[in-house]
Amino acid sequence: MDQTKSDSASRIVVLASGSGSNLQILLDHKADSWRVVGVVSDRPSAHALDRAAAAGVPSEVVQYSSFGDRAAFTAAVCDSIDRFDPHFIVLAGFMRVLGPDAILRFPNQIINVHPSLLPSFPGAHGVRDALKYGVAVTGVTVHFVDEQLDHGPIIAQEAVAVLPGDDEDSLHARLQAIEHRLLPHVVTQLARGTLEVSGRIVKGTVST
Ligand code: GRF
Repeated sequence: MDQTKSDSASRIVVLASGSGSNLQILLDHKADSWRVVGVVSDRPSAHALDRAAAAGVPSEVVQYSSFGDRAAFTAAVCDSIDRFDPHFIVLAGFMRVLGPDAILRFPNQIINVHPSLLPSFPGAHGVRDALKYGVAVTGVTVHFVDEQLDHGPIIAQEAVAVLPGDDEDSLHARLQAIEHRLLPHVVTQLARGTLEVSGRIVKGTVST
């Protein structure tokens, strides 16, 4: 085993494009089994980068505009991730879709948190789309990332009721409260090696 991975805690890299409230939860979480060792963002102005700096965690920015296409961007993001030598990668509000090469380079090592009950309402507007559709129940999904958008094997889900008078902000706030509880729990399961993927089924699925 190489030197950087020789302590027992799993090394976690977080990819984030925006506010980074999920990143903050992971930075603040006290766990023996894992720690956040790096942050990668596609947006130089992402508040997530300020949060990383405040926590003393190094970060890198990889902008889509610096590359000709998704494959080149994906390769650059993967190179950036690799420099932190992680065991697992968490997409926490990373608003760019990575190409299939990312899955080949990090098989079953990338997870994503999404603000709907997948497979309903994938994509960038999971909260808005659920509200517009008129569902009575939506929720949060944490899943392994595969080649398709918001599609990989589901690790954990939790439902949230849509309340009369909800708008996108009020509903998203309740969903984020769930995300902030679910995500560190899932990362702990990953780090402890208690999740087993078989096709679409994840065994050892977390309950909180
Ligand atoms: C979260 O709601 C997550 O589900 C979605 O993007 C949002 C990121 O929020 N993928 P934050 O930047 O962690 O506050």
